[in-house]
Amino acid sequence: QQSHPFHGRHQQGILTPRPATGMVVVCDVLARDRAGLERLLRILTERIAFLTQGGTYPKRDPSYPPADSGILGPTIAPDALTVTVSLGASVFDERFGLADAKPKHLQRMTGFPNDALEPTRCHGDLSLQICANTHDTTIHALRDIIKQTPGLLMVRWKQEGTVPVMPPSPDTPTPSARNYLGFRDGTANPNTDDDALMDSLIWTGDDPDEPNWARGGSYQVVRIIRNFVERWDRAQLAEQEAIFGRRKESGAPLSGGSEYDKPNYNDDADGKITPLDAHIRLANPRTPGFEKHRILRRPFNYSNGVEANGQLDMGLLFIVYQADLEAGFITVQKRLNGEPLEEYIKPVGGGYFFTLPGAIDEHDFLGRTLL
Ligand code: HEM
Repeated sequence: QQSHPFHGRHQQGILTPRPATGMVVVCDVLARDRAGLERLLRILTERIAFLTQGGTYPKRDPSYPPADSGILGPTIAPDALTVTVSLGASVFDERFGLADAKPKHLQRMTGFPNDALEPTRCHGDLSLQICANTHDTTIHALRDIIKQTPGLLMVRWKQEGTVPVMPPSPDTPTPSARNYLGFRDGTANPNTDDDALMDSLIWTGDDPDEPNWARGGSYQVVRIIRNFVERWDRAQLAEQEAIFGRRKESGAPLSGGSEYDKPNYNDDADGKITPLDAHIRLANPRTPGFEKHRILRRPFNYSNGVEANGQLDMGLLFIVYQADLEAGFITVQKRLNGEPLEEYIKPVGGGYFFTLPGAIDEHDFLGRTLL
């Protein structure tokens, strides 16, 4: 059973390869003061350290509730579990006296022109991104955390997702899986094996205007983006490929080559081969200087049920990480505003969070440098 080390400079679940299932659970913090917040973060650290490494729950006197939900039996395996803890802008308010410590770019998510945000699926004090090989492991971890944090944490909204797992290979450092529009997703992600690149694009630290404690953290953006799949499945293949700027079957750029070849926009200034408003061309025009706007996408596909009109409620649980929220997601999303893909998608929820730096060893806890 695969386990990811819990302790380290950064939290797991960001550069960690995506396992088959993931969920984002956004909570409100019920603790009223800084001591309560510290108690919460210490309990979260202790629970995540246990859950991600696995072990056996103690037996209790039957006149008490059992130590655990029991849904995985008395002994739990790591199952590639990661739990990644991030804080929303609302934590940096008068409740905890942390206003001066707010990461520079952290803010409440505002709506973009194509959004139809539902208040019950937006924002919150604290996000838990829980990922594992199997769905039961994520559910078990969530129930353990809820059981251990009474009076400190209350779930506000959650979204679950899945992704087909692709075996890593030396040629494809960031294996791509298909999303529910049938395209390979993840192809052009920055290489997570490149430490220097991750230090500049993903981990907050170099910016002297960021508070010192934030070093080694990252900005997390979550968006629940509904896909109108019935409409999409009736759109011509040529239109679908023009919308993304890639071939559906192979994932290759329209300018030629294979999936991991760079798209060529230099010989195509008027967009005859790759339309100027193709998703990938807007998201990354590959012009000099744009490298600093690259983001790390780590999404899951979701399928929730059925809308009142009989349409399937499914889409992308879009999760991205970046060292700088403005240079990353916000810049890229502004460039995507009005893209032809919008006819087939509708963002309905999400939020902006700051992923805490890692807990370095067993004496450390998540958020120590903040508090
Ligand atoms: C690339 C799908 C939303 C940013 C791609 C690709 C696909 C895709 C198929 C090409 C393969 C790849 O490189 O991964 C989708 C779908 C979305 C969505 C289905 C919504 C349901 C977004 C959003 C953003 C974004 C909201 C950021 C604001 C990017 C970036 C690339 C990309 C940066 C890589 C471009 C490059 O470097 O060539 N997306 N995407 N996407 N997408 Fe999206």
